[in-house]
Amino acid sequence: MKEHNIAIVGATGLVGRNMLKTVEERNFPVGTIRLFASKKSAGSYLLFRGKRVLVEDLFSSNLNGTDIALFSAGSEVSKKIVPLFVHNGAVVIDNSSHFRLSPEVPLIVPEVNGDMIKKNRGIIANPNCSTIQLVLVLAPLHKRFKIKRVVVSTYQSVSGKGYKAVKELETQSKEFLETFHPYGSYDRTLYIRYRSKSSVFPYPIGFNLLPQIGTFGDNGYTLEEEKLIKETQKIIGSKLKITATAVRVPVFYSHSESVNIEFVHPFTIKGCKEILRSSPGVLLYEQNYPIPLYMYERDEVAVGRIRRDDSVPNGINLWIVTDNIRKGAALNAVQIAEELING
Ligand SMILES: NC(=O)c1ccc[n+]([C@@H]2O[C@H](COP(=O)([O-])OP(=O)(O)OC[C@H]3O[C@@H](n4cnc5c(N)ncnc54)[C@H](OP(=O)(O)O)[C@@H]3O)[C@@H](O)[C@H]2O)c1
Repeated sequence: MKEHNIAIVGATGLVGRNMLKTVEERNFPVGTIRLFASKKSAGSYLLFRGKRVLVEDLFSSNLNGTDIALFSAGSEVSKKIVPLFVHNGAVVIDNSSHFRLSPEVPLIVPEVNGDMIKKNRGIIANPNCSTIQLVLVLAPLHKRFKIKRVVVSTYQSVSGKGYKAVKELETQSKEFLETFHPYGSYDRTLYIRYRSKSSVFPYPIGFNLLPQIGTFGDNGYTLEEEKLIKETQKIIGSKLKITATAVRVPVFYSHSESVNIEFVHPFTIKGCKEILRSSPGVLLYEQNYPIPLYMYERDEVAVGRIRRDDSVPNGINLWIVTDNIRKGAALNAVQIAEELING
């Protein structure tokens, strides 16, 4: 099998490390592998197939010789560096939001629209984590019953905001439990100090939840909500009616979504379950329901709590959970690379 020279940009981050692991686990045919991060991590090493690989400083290295580059170092880095890799002959699979809505860039979830990969002109975008798990469930149902409207509320883990956010939840949880008891008397001064201390999120996330992910736009929606709406429309169809509320919750890994769907055509719960049971990448919970703790490090998008919404003629409610770092980011990117090389 032909081998391919791979680069991972943002290799030391939560997503980048998982990309490296996923490339290894799935036996991707790798010729050479290069790892890039910021100056801060340059000179450190990560393990790949039992060997140490040097982490290079992205901004002071030559970028030649890469066939496929997997990017997960944020929008600003992608904006500056992706075109340089493409110029040097690489195909870039980008995890940032920078290129996702560009009309000439395919936005891909392989199980849903993998056929669009061949339309790439050097850049393929990986959707937002919350979009990937949503469209994997919506697409097969839409094909059969045609979706009229979707209302989604997300319950997103802190890892969606990277390593520093995971650290912040850990620190705040410890501090909260060391300082307070959830019952009886407490020191109000300490409580007020706890409430006002936060660096990654606008307010403490430990023992809390935040109905804000990203900055607010003029219309009152957050950036995350806008991404979820527009990316879903780009993948499923621009006419899809969809609204979203994105909430950050004190969970380390895996995003959950409560989804209400109204179909154009009549449906049965049995019919929906049959479709989801046979949809690639989807794990149907027939009896119980999926939860973030159990989906950690799993590949599937899990769906459960499927039930009719009797308040509208063709309505259904369901609950979707997936590991945001795996299928929500790293795995989806590696699957795109696999489809790319397999034509
Ligand atoms: N976490 C998720 O669920 C998720 C899902 C989908 C997409 N994404 C996207 O993936 C990207 C990374 O997310 P993450 O969770 O892995 O974040 P992270 O844990 O904070 O890691 C960020 C990575 O980017 C590197 N980086 C940052 N600034 C850089 C610069 N100026 N030059 C070179 N490298 C730089 C960091 O290198 P150092 O270690 O040297 O700082 C690190 O490797 C973001 O665009 C995010 O939106 C994340």
